[in-house]
Amino acid sequence: MRFVKVLLLVAMLLSVGSVFAQDAGSGAGLTIGFSQVGSESAWRTAFTEAVKAEAEARGINLLFSDAQQKQENQIAAVRSWIAQGVDAIIIAPVVETGWDEVLQEAQDAEIPVVIVDRNVTADPSLFVTRVSSDFVHEGRLAAAWLVQATAGKCAIVELQGTVGSSAALDRQKGFNEVIALFPDMKIVASQSGDFTRTGGKQVMESFLNSMDPSSICAVWAHNDDMLIGATQAMKEAGLDPADDILTISVDAIPDIFKAMMDGDANATVELSPYMGGPAFDAVVAALNGVELPKWIPVAGGIYFPDTAAEEYAKRGG
Ligand code: AHR
Repeated sequence: MRFVKVLLLVAMLLSVGSVFAQDAGSGAGLTIGFSQVGSESAWRTAFTEAVKAEAEARGINLLFSDAQQKQENQIAAVRSWIAQGVDAIIIAPVVETGWDEVLQEAQDAEIPVVIVDRNVTADPSLFVTRVSSDFVHEGRLAAAWLVQATAGKCAIVELQGTVGSSAALDRQKGFNEVIALFPDMKIVASQSGDFTRTGGKQVMESFLNSMDPSSICAVWAHNDDMLIGATQAMKEAGLDPADDILTISVDAIPDIFKAMMDGDANATVELSPYMGGPAFDAVVAALNGVELPKWIPVAGGIYFPDTAAEEYAKRGG
């Protein structure tokens, strides 16, 4: 009889334990610092909103810091959270180098760090995991579409993202790998527009002024915002975007689907802004001592005008 009572008690304790485990699973009550790159693009804004909404739904106390595209602001925010003794830190890094020291400081303070979106070159033992898409694959997808659309012959102008960011470096790498297989696919001009709409417009204007616009077959932009800026530059130069000059970009924001509906864009590769959920799950796992793989991939597809109206409506356009 005493044995049965002990068993019942153990069962009760286990069930209480699993309730705690469920709370721990959502991250409720945790204080987490989130250092965001900035608000340079519509995708970034959607990402910020999605992380904040996810934190609220889970009852997480999110300390949000907008770095305004400056790594030094990110490092200062991370140091202040370490001093405060937060439960965990999530970083969307502006650039990929220069993180080792501050990540070591977080590790010394036993505060787990999860990297989201862009990558870092720091030793992977300094962070729990990285939740992100495969930027190299995005570049490859973009190039594969362009090769097929132009039968492997195209003079391309490239609008690069932020210099030193893994999003720009890896998209460029993937794209270049594919076009290298086709001798008549060439990048004829390339410059950074810093992932902003105004940057994309200015760079495209300078391309159009410095070369014969009719020699340009396509514009490859590392994000949709720069591409939309570039379409404005093309229109002001009397060109018909997506017709006179083909377009391919990354993000799949509502405005690019609107541009497709208006006949001003040809294709976009998707980058999901919904990384908050997996990032918070990773924090909870780390706090519970669970080992995770160093990369948790987030998938995305490629979209064309045929589904633009549907995607525009679906994505809140
Ligand atoms: O790091 C992801 C990139 O950053 C997005 O493609 C771009 O829009 C943003 O600024």
